[in-house]
Amino acid sequence: MPTLLIIHHTPSPFMQAMFESVVSGATDPEIEGVEVVRRAALAVSATDVLEADGYLLGSPANLGYMSGALKHAFDVIYYPCLDSTRARPFGLYLHGNEGTEGAEKGVTAITTGLGWVKSAEYVTVSGKPSKDDLQACWELGATVAAQLMS
Ligand SMILES: Cc1cc2nc3c(=O)[nH]c(=O)nc-3n(C[C@H](O)[C@H](O)[C@H](O)COP(=O)(O)O)c2cc1C
Repeated sequence: MPTLLIIHHTPSPFMQAMFESVVSGATDPEIEGVEVVRRAALAVSATDVLEADGYLLGSPANLGYMSGALKHAFDVIYYPCLDSTRARPFGLYLHGNEGTEGAEKGVTAITTGLGWVKSAEYVTVSGKPSKDDLQACWELGATVAAQLMS
């Protein structure tokens, strides 16, 4: 069964709400035959990434970049996965008030290096996620998961 791996750093209630909306979209009953696996960015392994078929990445903006946790995930998986995960789809959600563009740029650079394909618009949220923000997170999860349906 195709697998969607959510690699997330979730350090606050606002980010938890975004994460839950992404999971809810990805696991919508209309999306059949896709297994959704969640891994904290600090715990994800290269095996998790190799065994998945697509990815959702979630992070706050920290110091104008992606969180150290998500960067750590990339540091761990980059070379073990470089040869085998090309052309796989991914999506990204970010939370922060300033510096989110630095986080986007960093994720774009690393995923370009991996050869992953951006398969939905990035979702960026500031402050308390509104209903529309959470809907955008839901759609992000559903969009990337739906692409894995066989
Ligand atoms: C070390 C550190 C650096 C951070 N740097 C930024 C930053 O550059 N820009 C920003 O908007 N928020 C920054 N933050 C705040 C986080 O982005 C924020 O905690 C996260 O998005 C969750 O939002 P919340 O705490 O309001 O729920 C930083 C937080 C930490 C712990």
